[in-house]
Amino acid sequence: MKKLRHFYFVLILGGVLLMYYGNRHWTDRNEAEEFHRAPPLSTSLFEPELGYSEPHLRTVNRTSNESNYYNLIWNGFGYFNKETDEEDDLLEDPQLENRKCEWKIHSSPIPLELKHRQYARKKLIHDLCDSNGTLGFNGKWQTIDDIPSWELANLLVDDRHGIIYCYVPKVACTEWKRLMIVLSESLKVNGVPYRDPSDIPVELIHGNSTRYLNRYNRTVMKQKLQQYKKFMFVREPFIRLISAYRDKFQKENEQYYQQYGIPILKRIGKIPNPPASVKEALAAGIAPSFSTFIQYILSLPADSYELLDEHWRQTARLCHPCQIHYDFIGKMETMEEDAAHLLRMLRVDNIVQFPKIKSSTTDENWMKTWFPTITADSRRKLFKLFETDYKLFGYQVPEYLLQP
Ligand SMILES: *[C@@H]1O[C@H](CO)[C@@H](O)[C@H](O)[C@H]1NC(C)=O
Ligand SMILES: *[C@@H]1O[C@H](CO)[C@@H](O)[C@H](O)[C@H]1NC(C)=O
Ligand SMILES: *[C@@H]1O[C@H](CO)[C@@H](O)[C@H](O)[C@H]1NC(C)=O
Ligand SMILES: *[C@@H]1O[C@H](CO)[C@@H](O)[C@H](O)[C@H]1NC(C)=O
Ligand SMILES: *[C@@H]1O[C@H](CO)[C@@H](O)[C@H](O)[C@H]1NC(C)=O
Repeated sequence: MKKLRHFYFVLILGGVLLMYYGNRHWTDRNEAEEFHRAPPLSTSLFEPELGYSEPHLRTVNRTSNESNYYNLIWNGFGYFNKETDEEDDLLEDPQLENRKCEWKIHSSPIPLELKHRQYARKKLIHDLCDSNGTLGFNGKWQTIDDIPSWELANLLVDDRHGIIYCYVPKVACTEWKRLMIVLSESLKVNGVPYRDPSDIPVELIHGNSTRYLNRYNRTVMKQKLQQYKKFMFVREPFIRLISAYRDKFQKENEQYYQQYGIPILKRIGKIPNPPASVKEALAAGIAPSFSTFIQYILSLPADSYELLDEHWRQTARLCHPCQIHYDFIGKMETMEEDAAHLLRMLRVDNIVQFPKIKSSTTDENWMKTWFPTITADSRRKLFKLFETDYKLFGYQVPEYLLQP
């Protein structure tokens, strides 16, 4: 009875809202249809405040164990348990009642285009993982059980709020790790946990002040993966590579100089006796060039991804989005909006805020600055190496770099 009333209420509300918002959101809707490719349906199935409702998604052929994933998508849209506008926007929370009083009150709902954006990003990953076996790495790893623990080294856990973050180096991961440390209260000074992410000394961030998921046994790991909200942030793959190069080889980084710099200079740069320390090397103006760095990456045996340092390892290899169904996929390119959306969805925006980071508007020019020294052949090989990241995360193929 309650369900029936609920249904009529939703139907009528939908109709009224449609009249109001139908026009306004027409562009969003068309954009969303790009991804759905669903047959036209009666308009009442589209609710401006909820996005597309269930029947659209049912048109997708579900051959594998995907229902869980769809539930997550629906919940992300607040399709179930609709009570108030505010709760529509939020993910389900296991400790909901305990924490309700602390939540930040928002007067406006999460913008529709942000919800669409998340939906589209998750749908793209889901569809590609489902249809292209090689994206799950040659069918080798069908499920999380097939992935060895050391390949799950980038998942950080916040048990207090039930959050898992897969960090991707060069995608503002230091800032996100700071937030995770504050949220999980995993790092204390004189017994008091850090409250302000920016107070945490940078040298403490990357060590073991965060909690890693793979330190738990399989049973616990899987339980947490199932119950917690999972998120990751991605970035244009070539831009991320340039960023990694600049960070690790143009700055005075002794560890990277010893571990990668010297071998690259010797083997690729044909410098038989490189300076012994990074200080001397920089003083002498010697550093692996971007071109030798790329040659080094391309010289590694195909398929031996584990040889790639995490700063230039493929994002899909770090976070396994085909096997782990992330609730939220953020992008460096839309960091500010995505961060605010995510923290609100996780209901922790009363505790932490994502800081303003340097704008990445110069990124486009980076490609033009860095890639001219790379031959077309190498660029294409490099693209092949990162093709999965380009596809899964919906980045435009940099065609102009790949022409002969
Ligand atoms: C789903 O797709 C598979 C092949 O891709 C097909 O064999 C199966 O009949 C389809 N199932 C439904 C319910 O459409
Ligand atoms: C779903 O997964 C379980 C184990 O994870 C498996 O036994 C079952 O066959 C799967 N079902 C389908 C339809 O793939
Ligand atoms: C990690 O934590 C252990 C004990 O909690 C400590 O002994 C060790 O020095 C830490 N390692 C790093 C790299 O911080
Ligand atoms: C995994 O760890 C949990 C908690 O530490 C423990 O209760 C459980 O027995 C462990 N399971 C296995 C299979 O070792
Ligand atoms: C699957 O993805 C790989 C790597 O991105 C690509 O090379 C291959 O052409 C794709 N196959 C299909 C059938 O889309």
